[in-house]
Amino acid sequence: MAEISPSEPSFDLAGRTIIVTGGGKGIGKVYCRHLAAAGARLIVADIDGEASVEVAKEIVSKGGVAVAEPTDVSDEKAVGRMAEAAIEAFGRIDGLINNAALMSDLPRQPWHQIEAEEWDRVMAVNLRGMFLCCRAVYPQMKKQGKGKIVNISSSRVWAGAPDRLHYTTSKMGVVGLTRALAREVGDDNIVVNAVAPGFTLSETQVATSSNEYLASKRNDRRALKRAQVPEDLVGVVMFLLSDASNFMTGQTITVDGGHMMH
Ligand SMILES: NC(=O)c1ccc[n+]([C@@H]2O[C@H](COP(=O)([O-])OP(=O)(O)OC[C@H]3O[C@@H](n4cnc5c(N)ncnc54)[C@H](O)[C@@H]3O)[C@@H](O)[C@H]2O)c1
Repeated sequence: MAEISPSEPSFDLAGRTIIVTGGGKGIGKVYCRHLAAAGARLIVADIDGEASVEVAKEIVSKGGVAVAEPTDVSDEKAVGRMAEAAIEAFGRIDGLINNAALMSDLPRQPWHQIEAEEWDRVMAVNLRGMFLCCRAVYPQMKKQGKGKIVNISSSRVWAGAPDRLHYTTSKMGVVGLTRALAREVGDDNIVVNAVAPGFTLSETQVATSSNEYLASKRNDRRALKRAQVPEDLVGVVMFLLSDASNFMTGQTITVDGGHMMH
C-alpha cells in the first residue's frame, strides 16, 4: 500500500506530466495553455490530430513543454499509446484530465429522436473512453505511488437538463465512476475527482449553438450573474492536480457561478 501523502499548501505544477484528453479545442485547449504556463509538461490528446499538433506547437513556441498525441479515447489501443507516449517523453504520468467528450457535436433534440447508434457512440466516448484512459495511466501512477485524475462531468446532471439525454446520462455516469474508482485506487495514493462545469462559452460551444439558443441561456439564475468562460474552470482543475488537494477524493465540484448549489 502506498503511503498516503498529506496535503501540502502547494499549488505548484512545475514539472508535472499531465495528459489532457480533448486538449486540442474548446475548454481542453484552455486547460493546456494555462497548465503549460504553470510549468507542467503536457500530452495533448485529441481525436482531432491537427488541433492536438497546433496546441502543442503553440505551447512550445512560447517556451512551454508539450507533445501532441492524437488519440481517440474510445479506442483501447490508441489510449494505450497515449499513456506510453507520456512515459516515453517524460518518464512519468502525474495527472490525467479526462476532458474529451462528445458534446458540442451533438444535436439538441427530444430524447425519443436519438438514434441508438448515437447513444452508443456517446457512451463509448464519454464513459468507456474515460474508463480506458484511467486504466491506461493506472500502472504508471501505481508505480509512482501517486497520481491525480480529474474527470469532467457537467452541472446539467444536477438540473436534469433535457435535449441531450445520452449526454446528460453519460455525465452522471462520470460522477459514479469518479466515486467508485476513488475507493478502488485510494490504497495506491491515487486520487480521483470530478468537475461539473455550467454552460460555458467554449469556442466549440459557441460555434455549434444558434444565437437563439445562446440568448436563451439566462445568467440571472446564477449567483454570479455573467456568462461562464473556460478560464473560470482552470483554477479548480489546477487545484485538483496539485498537492493542495491530496486528501480529497471521490468528489464532484460544481463550477457554474452559483446556479446549481450542490
Ligand atoms: N462547454 C460547456 O458548456 C460544458 C458544460 C459542461 C461540461 N462540459 C464538458 O467540458 C468538456 C469540454 O467541453 P467543450 O466545450 O470544450 O466541448 P467540445 O465538444 O468542444 O470538446 C470536446 C473535445 O473532445 C474532443 N473529442 C471528441 N471526441 C473525442 C474522442 N473520441 N477522443 C478524443 N478526443 C475527442 C473534441 O475534438 C474536442 O476537442 C467536455 O467534457 C464537456 O462535456 C462543457
